[in-house]
Order: sequence, then C-alpha cells, then structure tokens
Amino acid sequence: MPRQVRLRRHPVGALAADDFHVVDVPMPEPRDGEVLVRNTWTSVDPAIRIRLAAVAPAGYFPAFGLDAPMDGIMAVGEVVESLAVGFESGDTVWHTYGWRDYAAVPAGAGALGALGSLRRLDTAVAPAHAYLGPLGPMGLTAYAGLFDVAELCAGDVVWVSAAAGAVGSLAAQFAKLRGHTVIGSAGSDDKVAFVLGELGLDAAFNYKRGAIEDQLRAAAPDGIDVYFDNVGGDHLRAALSVLRRWGRVAICGAVSQYERDRPAPGPDNLFQAVANDLTLRGFRGSSYTDRMDDMQRDVAAWLRAGVLRHRETVVEGLEQAPEALVRMLAGGTIGKTLVHIA
Ligand SMILES: NC(=O)c1ccc[n+]([C@@H]2O[C@H](COP(=O)([O-])OP(=O)(O)OC[C@H]3O[C@@H](n4cnc5c(N)ncnc54)[C@H](OP(=O)(O)O)[C@@H]3O)[C@@H](O)[C@H]2O)c1
Repeated sequence: MPRQVRLRRHPVGALAADDFHVVDVPMPEPRDGEVLVRNTWTSVDPAIRIRLAAVAPAGYFPAFGLDAPMDGIMAVGEVVESLAVGFESGDTVWHTYGWRDYAAVPAGAGALGALGSLRRLDTAVAPAHAYLGPLGPMGLTAYAGLFDVAELCAGDVVWVSAAAGAVGSLAAQFAKLRGHTVIGSAGSDDKVAFVLGELGLDAAFNYKRGAIEDQLRAAAPDGIDVYFDNVGGDHLRAALSVLRRWGRVAICGAVSQYERDRPAPGPDNLFQAVANDLTLRGFRGSSYTDRMDDMQRDVAAWLRAGVLRHRETVVEGLEQAPEALVRMLAGGTIGKTLVHIA
C-alpha cells in the first residue's frame, strides 16, 4: 500500500518525530499530462521546518497543511507509467512530491519556483540521488549564492557557516576550487576535522567551543570579504564585525532561528554595514534556475575529475524521514541528508 508522511500537529519549539505520522493511501492514478513515479530517494531540508508552522513567512513557500500530503519536497524516482509527452516508464526523474513512496506528478507545472518541475535525469553523469545534492537544488543554491549573490571576486576571503552540511560543504568547496581562501565553521570537532581534512578548507572552527567572533578573527586575522550565511543570528553578527570594506553577505538561510517560537532580534551591530559599505543579500536558489545548466556543467566536471567531495547521511525507509529531520536540525548529520525509500 502506498504511504505518505504527514504532519500531525504544528510543532512548538524543538521538533519531535511524532509530530508526524505515516498514513496508507490509495495508489495515485495519473491523469493526462501526468506520470506515476515510484520514489526512490527523498530530501531532508531545514526549510521543511519553516513550513511546519501554521503560517510560513510572507513570500516564502506555503506552510504544510495538517494531515495533508507534504507537497514541495524534492524527490527522485522512476517513472512507472506515463501519460505525459516526453516521459517514458523507466525514466529517472526529479520532482517535488517527496516524503511519500508513489506520486502522480504533472509534467510542465512549476514547483518550488520552477526548481523542482518534473525533469528527466541523466544517471550516466551521476547516480539519481546526487541530483538531490550537488547536481540539484543544493548545488544550485551554493553556486548562485557564491557567484551571483555574493559576486565572488579574485582574492576574496570567504567564510561559510554550517560548512559540513549539504549547501555549506558545496559552497565552501566551490570557493576553494576557484582559488579562494575559505574558512568553515560547524558544530562539532568531527565536522571541523571533515571540512579541513576531506574538503581541504584553509581553516575551520567549532562554533560551540568559544566566541564565534574571536574564533573567526583567529582564522582570518585580516578579515573576510564574503560570508555565505546558512545560520543567521550570532553567526551573522560575527560576520558583520569581521567583514572588510565592500564585503558581501549571501543570506542563504538562518537555521539557528528555525526552531524559535518567536522572531529573533536582528544583529545589534548592523551599523557595520554602513561603516564598511557592506552588501547583505538574501536569496532563494529557486530564483536562479537560469544558472542550473552552468552549475550542472561545472559540478559534473568537478565530480568527474574527483576534486569535489559529496558526503551523505542516508537513512533507510520512508518512515524515518521525520527522525532524520530532527537529527539534522540538531546537528547530527553530515553532508546531504537523504532518505532512501527503496
Ligand atoms: N536559500 C535557499 O534557496 C536555500 C536552499 C537550501 C538550503 N538553504 C538554507 O541553507 C542552510 C543549510 O541547509 P542544508 O540543507 O545544507 O542543511 P545542513 O547544513 O545539511 O543541515 C543543517 C545544519 O545546520 C546546523 N545548525 C543547526 N542549528 C544550528 C545553530 N543553532 N547554529 C549553527 N548551526 C546550526 C547543524 O550543523 P552543525 O552541527 O554544524 O551545527 C545542521 O546539521 C539552511 O539555513 C537552509 O535553510 C537555503
């Protein structure tokens, strides 16, 4: 019997796996213009936490309904029946009907701002699940954030927070591959060892081991030019203090804030943006789909050359998706967090 993970109640404070339940549903029946997909992998993303509130932030993707299918989460799978032109059974595709094992997916409909519209994947380049990581939304977010939003320039010193995570590990490596000095931060000594040893960053620190600003200054005594912000809050505050003149912040996310019950106060040193001619720009990877081909070309070449690492934390079984999200938000995963459905 097909299954879906659904939200049972809106979590308050720290998320618990039993805020969700798994329900049996009838096999979806594709209509004209749709394909039936058997999902094999689905994504676990911090942004899901934002959408578990009763109301999502204005302008963002909508909140998930209670006891409703969780539309708008990336998945990859295999087409088992196609009523859509351009797709055949056996095709490997991505789409946004994740956290379930079967989905009827419309072709051509925009999803997650066109980022996740039904798309056939070339598994000769990389296995299907790599399209939920470096070759997909994570890669695009890191790529657009660094090159378009932060407008990375020759000689820039870059700090990436949550550097052992899905987006952070890619952004940090992309900057290294373009010849930059890159500092990473993460929440455990093991993650710091990973970003130094496996990703080859120039310096890294564990933000739980001391004042962030002090550790950042020690790693970048002359300051930084670009901050790729995955965390917000205290991390953004530290960046504002350490950024050099004309520095840029690509505000990718604010994972330190997602489990708060009420909005966090902004950084109390925002005047540094005036003092140092700084640019702070938020962005959604899904607004840069015109860069998907560039990103996939570069990332595929880096993967082929063996110079880009992509670590994954894989949990087995659809029913484990909620627990995987809880673990990820608590810092218990490394690299891209994925659910292997079957
Ligand atoms: N703008 C976009 O289009 C877009 C797209 C994808 C993701 N994002 C954002 O990018 C960020 C990273 O997402 P991801 O998918 O790559 O997740 P991830 O980094 O793989 O996982 C989230 C990590 O955040 C860290 N974290 C949790 N609470 C924290 C806190 N209070 N302070 C510092 N770090 C904390 C944890 O690592 P530690 O052990 O290091 O604490 C955790 O493992 C998130 O903010 C997400 O919302 C934005």
